[in-house]
Amino acid sequence: MEVIIRPDAEDIARIVADAFTGLLTRKPDAVLGLATGSSPLKVYDELARRHDAGEVSFARARAFALDEYVGLTPDHPQRYANVLQTEIAGRVDFAPGAVQAPDGLADDLPAACAQYEAAIASAGGVDLQILGIGTDGHIAFNEPGSSLASRTRLKTLTAQTRIDNARFFDDNVDAVPRHCLTQGLGTIMEARHVVLVATGSAKAEAVHRMVEGAVSAMWPGSILQFHRHATVLVDEAAASRLQ
Ligand code: F6R
Repeated sequence: MEVIIRPDAEDIARIVADAFTGLLTRKPDAVLGLATGSSPLKVYDELARRHDAGEVSFARARAFALDEYVGLTPDHPQRYANVLQTEIAGRVDFAPGAVQAPDGLADDLPAACAQYEAAIASAGGVDLQILGIGTDGHIAFNEPGSSLASRTRLKTLTAQTRIDNARFFDDNVDAVPRHCLTQGLGTIMEARHVVLVATGSAKAEAVHRMVEGAVSAMWPGSILQFHRHATVLVDEAAASRLQ
């Protein structure tokens, strides 16, 4: 695990965008792993800027979301398929249908999870996965206690994550879904390169546990200590508890 500490989120975004644009130059049909939430937003802005400047194309790439809420209506702005469309997919030149998310409205949610795993595998696996980390140490929606070998599945969100995410639902925690579909830790570990972005002091404890703590299901991000190519990019506030 490589840990890079940078003074501000713009620097971090440029470094992550370099990883995406470098990959897409070498391999235009790369498979990308996309996260939602605040952490990747500056990266997506930088990628959209580079796309507009003609520096990168996503036309042959495919992408998979990490996770999806269960039960949000197709047009709900916080449905992660819609969030990704707004934040990145609709701003660059992905082909129609090239960006997929788990189907949080499926009648048979376990079958939807199995289909999602099969889709990732048939695409050849994820080349580059961007991740954020929750204040409780979750990656994707693998909350504390998640199996370190888990695959895409139905999960219950913790009270802390629902409180953290209420800001996307007009500060109404009751509007935050209770369930989600999420890639498992085992799924994420198969991505060939993972890049995790964390900024701000609220992430300091989770970053410390992920980088320096014991590998434990109680701090799910700590599984990345076993990843063969994991890059952690943090600002000084998020790095403040590192030894
Ligand atoms: C989002 C996701 C989550 C977030 C995490 C951090 O797809 O999988 O693990 O990365 O909750 O969220 P932010 O970046 O909003 O602090």
